[in-house]
Amino acid sequence: MSLVDEAARVRENAYAPYSQFKVGAALTTATGAVFAGCNVENVAYPEGTCAEAGAIAAMVASGETAFTEIAVIADSPDPVPPCGGCRQKLAEFAAEGARITMATTDGATTEMAVADLLPGAFGKGHME
Ligand code: THU
Repeated sequence: MSLVDEAARVRENAYAPYSQFKVGAALTTATGAVFAGCNVENVAYPEGTCAEAGAIAAMVASGETAFTEIAVIADSPDPVPPCGGCRQKLAEFAAEGARITMATTDGATTEMAVADLLPGAFGKGHME
């Protein structure tokens, strides 16, 4: 199954009763393992979490800390881009050269480097 297909599969489990906007994300690592996540909203709106955050949490919980590819999918007019907070989360765990595929449920995709999602990112080097 492709990463986009895996993201579409987990999207079905999204808990999005407030926005009705279901998002799925799936990432893979150098070991070939695949981890998936969906958005999980909350009646206290700011407590909701994004699909990307769920996929990252699943990867870290299994003992890995770097992904090489991620796919994100939603029923969106254009391929769905990660929010600002997720761009920072992705920057933390992206392997060198990691790629992102953004997708719509209608089959449109856009691909780019994760590093290009957040120019000028705050990183570990800034804390030295
Ligand atoms: N959302 C994600 O899960 N990932 C994105 O890349 C964009 C936004 C979620 C958060 C919220 O549950 C819903 O989509 C509407 O913003």
